Amino acid sequence: MDQEQQLNGAMRNVSINTNGIAAATKLNGHSKVSGGGGSGGGDETDYVRTVEQPPSAAATAANAANKSTNAATAAATATATNANAFQIQTAASAADKKKMVYELCQQLLLSDEQMQELTYRILHELRRGLAKDTHPKANVKCFVTYVQDLPNGNERGKFLALDLGGTNFRVLLIHLQENNDFQMESRIYAIPQHIMIGSGIQLFDHIAECLSNFMAEHKVYSERLPLGFTFSFPLRQLGLTKGLLETWTKGFDCAGVVNEDVVQLLKDAIARRGDVQIDVCAILNDTTGTLMSCAWKNHHCKIGLIVGTGSNACYVEKVEEAELFDGTDNRKPHVLINTEWGAFGDNGALDFVRTEFDEDIDSHSINPGKQTFEKMISGMYMGELVRLVLAKMTQNGILFNGQGSEVLFTRGLFFTKYVSEIEADEPGNFTNCRLVLEELGLSNATDGDCANVRYICECVSKRAAHLVSAGIATLINKMDEPHVTVGVDGSVYRFHPKFHNLMVEKITQLIKPGITFDLMLSEDGSGRGAALVAAVACREDILNSK
Ligand code: GLC
Repeated sequence: MDQEQQLNGAMRNVSINTNGIAAATKLNGHSKVSGGGGSGGGDETDYVRTVEQPPSAAATAANAANKSTNAATAAATATATNANAFQIQTAASAADKKKMVYELCQQLLLSDEQMQELTYRILHELRRGLAKDTHPKANVKCFVTYVQDLPNGNERGKFLALDLGGTNFRVLLIHLQENNDFQMESRIYAIPQHIMIGSGIQLFDHIAECLSNFMAEHKVYSERLPLGFTFSFPLRQLGLTKGLLETWTKGFDCAGVVNEDVVQLLKDAIARRGDVQIDVCAILNDTTGTLMSCAWKNHHCKIGLIVGTGSNACYVEKVEEAELFDGTDNRKPHVLINTEWGAFGDNGALDFVRTEFDEDIDSHSINPGKQTFEKMISGMYMGELVRLVLAKMTQNGILFNGQGSEVLFTRGLFFTKYVSEIEADEPGNFTNCRLVLEELGLSNATDGDCANVRYICECVSKRAAHLVSAGIATLINKMDEPHVTVGVDGSVYRFHPKFHNLMVEKITQLIKPGITFDLMLSEDGSGRGAALVAAVACREDILNSK
């Protein structure tokens, strides 16, 4: 199993895999929006149903126990009373534990007022990113992508694509054909940890080597093909084929790349090898690829969203709003903006909803103080957030009778996929939950523990879905079009069983009356999207040369 899947909950190779994924795929079926009717709002109800005894009954029983203990006189009665009292005590403490879990998790739930406040703050930050004078200090950079044309469905031809941005790196060969048909072959290459934090030269040499091997394997070694490079990091673009890396995110930290033109670094690495010929036609973000790949089929698609290892969105903006855009062709009315919203909150704008767990994640990350919003949402951090809550509650004696395990107390070992798996159990059933706990070395969990673990997962994932929804609703309201399709990709969205429904429900609450939207699962935006951006760029070149 590769690391991206490990981290982000895509798949398991143990038996619960099939259950979890099947359920996830079914539940997260990306159905059309209709009145928001997700199951998200029912989470607490499920939770209440699965605990051993409701608090009020437990409290009554505890009272009764006190009374009967005091009143016990005859030996026979005393024995019966003691047995009762023991049972009642256990029940009461399970209910108390549930209550403590519930109370500690309150900080993870976002009220309607907080959600409203979030949308104001996000809009404010978007505006600061777009405007020339506030851009340098803005957290949400709103980078101009130089993509001004959505695909029209007539794009054809053979393209190479590189996809760098998660834990994996992919090379793809895409053949765009008639009738929105396409063929795609791809191969995943691991990026070893030492390369993720090594030198830029090493990274780009590795990429060029994988590209060359791929071309040889796919018998296009001696062809000169156009290439789209999906580079999913904050990029200050100066054109469709020129972009300077602003900062690394998602665990990457290669020396000598920040402020450099990434396309040039790629070209240099290819030239150093000297064996293959490539035309780099475009560099793009994964959100752009996602938008383009959905727009190829659906012309309402105006927003691209990723909820995977990282989180980010791009959208179609009016050229006059994008003050940093110095495109040559200002006759085109729109341009795609890569918001880089992962950095929202780096100036404290999210402090009113951040928790001790968020602070812990941040201070132990490779980039403290950065990507605050992303760290509350994405797959790189979600499992760890849950682990921190579980560890705290175990240490306080609330979970697992106070007995943790080495794995539970080790950073990074509660994978985000566990969250999806645990939440894929039917209410009251803890099959996946128990398998996960066993993997963590916690095989003595009670049903009460399992219900509590599930509730914690629900709070963390629901908060993530709501934060993403605040961002999407803000974009939809800003665009102010009657209907918007949001193209979405990323392992959290794809595999979490409730993420889609939670988002639909929350966005519906937050958007202006009269606007409608839907969420469309992207079919490999980073790959096909890259080919499409390259194809649209080629289309332009051909038109311009005529
Ligand atoms: C991080 C990157 C951003 C990317 C996102 C999703 O936030 O900075 O460019 O789009 O992850 O992969």
